[in-house]
Amino acid sequence: MCRCWGPYRGWVPCAPARWFFLSFVCAAPFGLLGEETRQVYMEVISGSPNPQNLLHIRAVGTNSTLHYVWSVLGPPAVVLVGTNTNQSVLRVNWSLLLSPDPDGGLMVLPKNSIQFSSALIFTRLLEFNSTKEPEGAAQPTGKPYPPYSLAEFSWNNITHSLDLATLSAVFQGHPADDPTGAFTNGSLAFKVQAFNGPGRPAQPPRLLHSADACQLEVSLAGASPRGNRSLFGLEVATLGIGPDCPTVKELYSIDDEYAPAVFQLNQVLWGSSPSGFMQWRPVAFSQKQRAGESALSCHASFLHPTLAYSLPHSPIVQAFFGSPNNFCAFNLTFGAPTGPGYWNQHYLSWSMLLGIGIPPVDALSPLVLGIMAVALGTPGLMLLGGGLFLLLRHKQYSEYQSIN
Ligand SMILES: *[C@@H]1O[C@H](CO)[C@@H](O)[C@H](O)[C@H]1NC(C)=O
Ligand SMILES: *[C@@H]1O[C@H](CO)[C@@H](O)[C@H](O)[C@H]1NC(C)=O
Ligand SMILES: *[C@@H]1O[C@H](CO)[C@@H](O)[C@H](O)[C@H]1NC(C)=O
Ligand SMILES: *[C@@H]1O[C@H](CO)[C@@H](O)[C@H](O)[C@H]1NC(C)=O
Ligand SMILES: *[C@@H]1O[C@H](CO)[C@@H](O)[C@H](O)[C@H]1NC(C)=O
Ligand SMILES: *[C@@H]1O[C@H](CO)[C@@H](O)[C@H](O)[C@H]1NC(C)=O
Ligand SMILES: *[C@@H]1O[C@H](CO)[C@@H](O)[C@H](O)[C@H]1NC(C)=O
Ligand SMILES: *[C@@H]1O[C@H](CO)[C@@H](O)[C@H](O)[C@H]1NC(C)=O
Repeated sequence: MCRCWGPYRGWVPCAPARWFFLSFVCAAPFGLLGEETRQVYMEVISGSPNPQNLLHIRAVGTNSTLHYVWSVLGPPAVVLVGTNTNQSVLRVNWSLLLSPDPDGGLMVLPKNSIQFSSALIFTRLLEFNSTKEPEGAAQPTGKPYPPYSLAEFSWNNITHSLDLATLSAVFQGHPADDPTGAFTNGSLAFKVQAFNGPGRPAQPPRLLHSADACQLEVSLAGASPRGNRSLFGLEVATLGIGPDCPTVKELYSIDDEYAPAVFQLNQVLWGSSPSGFMQWRPVAFSQKQRAGESALSCHASFLHPTLAYSLPHSPIVQAFFGSPNNFCAFNLTFGAPTGPGYWNQHYLSWSMLLGIGIPPVDALSPLVLGIMAVALGTPGLMLLGGGLFLLLRHKQYSEYQSIN
């Protein structure tokens, strides 16, 4: 994560306009990143005698613990909780959790250590009958087929996919009832991965992560589409902050080695930072070998308030939050009627980051910085040196101010 000293007191994320000067300053102190590590514990909590599982990620820092509880009881969902102690624990009461009224079945204790909590629910897999000639702006993706409710999927036993070396686990499922046989050879998978420290995966879209976040990779593979050029999508619901929905922002970056040709980062924030955040690049891939040729666009609709009864019921959300009535939802659609698509190889994957704290901000990669330095040459370096000098003076000035 790259943070810069700003004109205000404290650390602030780099604003893109300042990158030219500031990325030199921020790319340098990699030592600082060492403090941003967490001890991550990943466990499968089984409800005996009930054959049900929860995946609990507990990320412990010096002064804080983050809890991520993933479950496929009902639709795939995660409850995320940030606490201000390194001692907080998760309590599961299975008899309550599996009862018709699961309120209180999931708790993080001590309650007064909770600084932030919310949830994300993946409610439906959408499929659209797209055609090469779009039917107009109203429905550029084509008419929707009846969606697959993810609450009616049956899922694998997560214990068998838990990999403590990579801190990952995979929920893999298919419709419990599949009359057309569309999922005979297919499945939908949610791969969850946690991190001990900051970094960036080798595979595109190479989202920058911190120890405060988990990555989710959703992939659909081998399922028979209902149309020749079916587009797929995902409906996602979350909890608002009071009556308001979380804010959605599109951040822009310059073209970079890490994300060639993708200039945008979509970000959902549950409140003013630090709170919860969700980030993704608006790109999905139509091949396991992720490259430019297999990249699809990913479109997100507006996040808007949604009535609880229109969404599949999530036991873990009710178990932790009681019966919230401030759901918000949005749709993600992957691909366009033209260009590559799921139809090429019956494969689709998309990744996002979910975290608590300050969202990671991309800086320029060392390679690009190197190219810039060479391209700018000596006069440019002198100019940058001058910029740094002004900046450091500014830093001293702001420190001076904060002492007063
Ligand atoms: C998953 O597998 C483990 C070990 O094989 C077993 O103990 C557990 O009960 C299984 N859970 C479910 C939900 O089937
Ligand atoms: C946990 O917090 C206590 C006090 O708040 C501190 O003394 C201790 O060193 C912390 N432990 C770790 C592992 O950070
Ligand atoms: C942890 O909290 C203590 C006391 O509140 C504070 O002095 C210390 O700087 C904090 N450490 C970190 C890493 O935030
Ligand atoms: C679980 O909740 C039920 C109902 O509130 C309660 O009777 C039971 O003691 C709880 N179990 C545990 C282990 O706390
Ligand atoms: C899909 O769209 C095509 C072209 O508009 C149409 O011919 C076909 O009947 C549609 N299929 C379904 C299942 O709606
Ligand atoms: C599933 O795979 C088998 C063997 O590869 C094939 O014969 C069958 O047609 C496939 N079924 C569907 C619905 O794609
Ligand atoms: C789908 O493709 C098949 C074979 O390629 C073709 O026979 C059929 O007419 C196509 N259907 C539509 C709706 O375009
Ligand atoms: C997502 O798309 C489906 C199909 O078009 C629609 O029925 C549903 O209301 C949409 N959900 C949201 C939250 O916009």
